[in-house]
Formats: sequence, structure tokens, C-alpha cells
Amino acid sequence: MNLWAGVLGIALARRFSDPGLGKPPRLHSLPIDIQSSYSFVALLTNMSTKLQWGLIGTGGIARTFARGLRESQTGELAAIGSRSKETALEFAKDFPARCHGSYEALLADPQVQAVHISTPHMAHAKWAIRAAEAGKHILCEKPLAMNEEEALAVIEAARHNKVFLMEAFMYRCHPQTAKLLECIASQPIGEIKLIRATFSFSFPYDPQCRLLNAELGGGGILDVGCYCTSMSRLIAGAATGKPFLNPLEVKGSGHIGVTGVDEYAIASLKFSNGILAQIAAGVQLDLENNVRIVGSEGSLLIPDPWAINRGKAGFSKILLFKSHIPEEIVIETDRGLYALEADHVAEQIALGRTQSPAVPWDDTLGNMQTLDRWRAEVGEKLT
Ligand SMILES: NC(=O)c1ccc[n+]([C@@H]2O[C@H](COP(=O)([O-])OP(=O)(O)OC[C@H]3O[C@@H](n4cnc5c(N)ncnc54)[C@H](OP(=O)(O)O)[C@@H]3O)[C@@H](O)[C@H]2O)c1
Repeated sequence: MNLWAGVLGIALARRFSDPGLGKPPRLHSLPIDIQSSYSFVALLTNMSTKLQWGLIGTGGIARTFARGLRESQTGELAAIGSRSKETALEFAKDFPARCHGSYEALLADPQVQAVHISTPHMAHAKWAIRAAEAGKHILCEKPLAMNEEEALAVIEAARHNKVFLMEAFMYRCHPQTAKLLECIASQPIGEIKLIRATFSFSFPYDPQCRLLNAELGGGGILDVGCYCTSMSRLIAGAATGKPFLNPLEVKGSGHIGVTGVDEYAIASLKFSNGILAQIAAGVQLDLENNVRIVGSEGSLLIPDPWAINRGKAGFSKILLFKSHIPEEIVIETDRGLYALEADHVAEQIALGRTQSPAVPWDDTLGNMQTLDRWRAEVGEKLT
């Protein structure tokens, strides 16, 4: 049995024991080997064709996701939705598919079964709700919305229209994260006390670009701080056998630039099980981006926690420090991160689920709530 398959099986089983996920599938009757689970799912559902994806937005991550779809075992790009037909046609030169000159037209395309939403943050909620109303399954880029209230409205739309919805925290779909959860469960570093998570980069200064423009939902907390809160909450939960924990305390500070959004920010989180997290994020600051988990008997370092292996298939590692010489825990994948994400979504849909055990809705809401608290601490407007 492939190692990460078993791990993911355990992680899925643990997550589905959470009452928040509604009717659990009979996981014990599912084959644990995830390599073969896609064909198993296909058999289960008589899926004769691949999941037909449509894109809402044609920017940087839309390209990355379209590349991922080429590698995926379950999905293919059916249609491109852009605010302009010319942009869609330009995108189709690299990724051939039907082109639509508006997001409305993409959503009206009857062959599109699932959409990937990759607009700037302020438009996520609007297009996710419209997609749910159009009966499309949804993979929406992070953060799901600008704030918790908007996220609730999106989830309500997915629930009401019985469509699948997942916030695109792609790192949660990678076996490295499953391996990390397995590692935490087996307590090689004793009792976890502190988590340090960073995600920050220095983008060339442009006040109009989505990273700094307040009207487009800019700011480092929303763009990359959301990963740090997501990971810290995941680890703090896993330490007590839960799918996630929300922090009791969120204390933060940040630098608000002339555009009115945070260019870089830090926060400390305190969880009910005594775990503390120190997190830092930014779009105008270069940091070493990693996650360290410190326990009573050692520590774990995840050197590449987010866009693992630059989205490509191959190897990644977790380092376990119990003495001076770290032990390397190596993880191998046959597909890249975004192919794994697309396949994960297809698998959940084929199983008839509306939410994923990798990023359940309550987890998304808890993350949005934490981001709201962090942004309030730094003095940012939450709209
Ligand atoms: N998961 C990941 O690894 C990852 C990585 C990077 C970014 N992201 C997320 O993906 C989303 C997009 O990021 P990106 O880096 O791809 O952004 P980007 O390159 O700026 O692309 C955003 C796209 O959104 C569309 N759009 C709709 N309304 C817009 C507006 N008012 N102004 C500008 N563009 C608008 C545009 O497509 P059309 O012109 O075709 O309509 C544009 O190409 C964000 O939510 C971000 O957080 C995720």
C-alpha cells in the first residue's frame, strides 16, 4: 500500500468522524489505496467522462490550475470564462477550450460541471454564489470571501443548491500534509507547544495590483496570511485529535501602506490546548516561508509547506529534529499539487459530497473568523 494513501485514509476517516460534516461515507468499506481510489470512484459512479471544468478568471493561478488539469486523472478543461472574449481567446492559445466573454456566459454553459474561481478576493463570494445558483460545483480560491459574513452566504448558497464547495487550500490536498497529520498523531515530538508559520513575498510595488489595491481585496493577511492561520488551526486541532481548532486569542500587528491594506503583518494565536502560534505574512516582505512545530521532545520543520515542490510532481520532505541530526521524512507524488487538488475535488463530487474532509465548511468559517480578528487587530476595514 502506498504510504500516503494509508495516511490520507486515516486522515479522512478522522475528519469524517466530525459531526459537522453531516452523513459520513462508509470509509471503512473504501479501499485505502488512494492510487486506485480514483478508478474505484469512477466505478462507483459510472463516471464515463472526466469532470468538465470551467474557469472564472484567467490570471496567474488560473494558468497554474489549467496546467494541473492536464496532469489530473479525473478532470479536463472544458471552458474559459473571462470578462473579455479576447482574453479568453488568448488564454485558449495555451489551454484550448470553449471561450466565453463573460462569467455569466461561462456559468450558462451546460457542459461545465465545476468551476475554479480565481478572481481577486473581493469577487470570490459574488461568483461563488452565482455558480451555486447555476448548479455548478465550486473550487474557489482562498480566502473564500472577504470576511466571515460573506463566507457564510457562500456556504448557504452551496448548501441550498446542493453543490460541492471547497476553498482552494491546495496544500491540504497534498500527501505531505496528510503525512504531517499522521506524524502529529504519533507524537514523535511529544506535546506540541508552539507553531511558527510564515508566508510572505516581496512583490514589485504597484498600488493598482490586486495585492495592494483595497478595492480588489488586497493585503498580505488575506492573500497569504490565510495559509498561516489555516495551517496553525489544522495543527492545533490535530494535536488533540480534532480536524481543526479555532484560537481563543488573536493578537496582531501590521504595517498598513498608503493603499490602506496591510503590506506585512504578524500575529500570535493562543489555542485552548495551550498551543501558541506565531505567524507572519506579507506581500512587500521576503521571509523564509516554512512551518516549524516545537514540542516537548523535539520539533518538526516543513521547509516547503504551501506551493509544495512548486506545484510539480516529485519529492518533498518534512524534517524531524529529535537530536542534532534531522531525520528526513520524504513524500513522493506522481502528480503535481494542482492536479492532486483537482482530483481530490472530482473524487468528493463522485462520492456525492458537498464538502471536503480536507477543507470542511466549518474549517473555512473558522479561518475567515480568525482572519477577521487579525485584520481588525491591525486596523484594516473588513469589507
Ligand atoms: N492557490 C494558489 O496557489 C494561489 C496562488 C496565487 C493566487 N491565488 C488566489 O487566486 C486568486 C487570483 O490570483 P492571481 O494571482 O491569479 O490574480 P491575477 O493574476 O491578478 O488574476 C486575477 C484574474 O481575475 C479576473 N478579474 C475579475 N475581476 C477583476 C478585477 N476587477 N481586476 C482584475 N482582475 C479581475 C481577471 O481575469 P479576466 O480578465 O479573464 O476576467 C484576472 O486575470 C486570488 O484569490 C489569490 O489569492 C491562489
